Amino acid sequence: MKIAMIGTGYVGLVSGVCFSDFGHHVVCVDQDQTKIDKLQAGQVPIFEPGLDVLMAKNVEAGRLSFTRDLASALEGADAIFIAVGTPTRRGDGHADLTYVFAAAEEIAKTAKDYAVIVTKSTVPVGTNRKVHEVVKAANPDLDFDVASNPEFLREGAAIEDFMKPDRVVVGVETERAAKVMEDIYRPLYLRDFPILTTDLESAEMIKYAANAFLATKITFINEIAALCEKTGADIKKVSKGVGLDGRIGNKFLHAGPGYGGSCFPKDTKALARIGQDVASPMAITETVIRVNEEVKHRLVEKLRDVCGNSFKDKTVAVLGVTFKPNTDDMRDAPSLTLVPAMVGGGAKVRLVDPQGYREGQDLLPGCDWLDDPYEAAKGADLVVILTEWNEFRALDLSRLAGVMSAPKMADFRNVYDPSDAKAAGFEAYVSVGRSDYGV
Ligand code: UDX
Repeated sequence: MKIAMIGTGYVGLVSGVCFSDFGHHVVCVDQDQTKIDKLQAGQVPIFEPGLDVLMAKNVEAGRLSFTRDLASALEGADAIFIAVGTPTRRGDGHADLTYVFAAAEEIAKTAKDYAVIVTKSTVPVGTNRKVHEVVKAANPDLDFDVASNPEFLREGAAIEDFMKPDRVVVGVETERAAKVMEDIYRPLYLRDFPILTTDLESAEMIKYAANAFLATKITFINEIAALCEKTGADIKKVSKGVGLDGRIGNKFLHAGPGYGGSCFPKDTKALARIGQDVASPMAITETVIRVNEEVKHRLVEKLRDVCGNSFKDKTVAVLGVTFKPNTDDMRDAPSLTLVPAMVGGGAKVRLVDPQGYREGQDLLPGCDWLDDPYEAAKGADLVVILTEWNEFRALDLSRLAGVMSAPKMADFRNVYDPSDAKAAGFEAYVSVGRSDYGV
């Protein structure tokens, strides 16, 4: 099969590289010349474990290439994937589809032969029909179908998720398109990974419903965590006990500083907007969005408490600023709320993150960046764990406490045990949904 991938952002690049690894010929297109130059030089513009090796392998094998030239990319393509951004539109919370429709129009004007135009970007229900209309209007003679093929990749585990998915969802309107999509995903289908073929609207809805459900699960457990703190229950034990119920499942039940990232915040907002537009309110999703914001503000207050009711002149070492480990992505990261609150309150904040520096230095001004947690903690009043990078999961707590001036810890990913923190010499320890001490 020959595939053209429009957009070399996170989704486009990972999907393009993985499709080429299936044995397909993939040409990735982007308007951004610097990005294409980098990719052609073998550099991966995003941080995703394993992507560089897989990309190099398939470029070497002659199955994967990068270009700015749409016409050459579309030549002979069986499928043209649209994987451009759909950011939240300023003002109304809708997904901004400008890039999707612009790509559809470009494809319509450039393509010559039959191809399936597949939307991989997350788009509101009904968008694929609009893509069909846009293409038809721009080139009435073109023979094409549209298909919806939402992605379920987690950053940091994207290749694994692509190669071993829980399911592949494909929304189509014709048998012919279904056959092309089946051929593209044959390597997965042959290994018994389920491919669910639906109509266009259902495929679009599955993506939003799945993400909103997962965001709800996290938010629910965060709310239970707050209740645990008031009642003396331990959220880690509660999550375990609840998750052992097979109907609920143990995943996405880790309490923390609220969900962030490129998908959950954006998709929950878009779903809520869709509900408002068609007068079918998404009350649960709307509440999840609000409660997730409140989680961060609740934790700011916990930080203030552990600092003795004021951040003024406190030195704080924050471990982890990305929204989760194994990514350099800072989008909607809890650090963007917590760190400015401390800086604004007069704290001197030192940041440590294996990948966060590139984006974080602009987003978190007024902070010092260090490479080593112990260095950052030297003479500090408080250590805050905000992202559970492996680097922060096995710290020598006694050594850490030993270099601090008044050792206190806010462990907002519940990485450590309060009794271990106490034994190591921390005079105060706060976390999420467990008994704090020293405050
Ligand atoms: C998510 C979906 O998992 C993926 O299917 C979709 O395609 C894109 O959005 P991603 O945003 O990369 O992936 O990260 P994920 O691992 O799902 O975590 C999202 C957020 O939830 C992070 O901020 C994470 O810290 C938080 N989270 C996750 C929790 O707080 N607790 C959990 O138990 C799980």
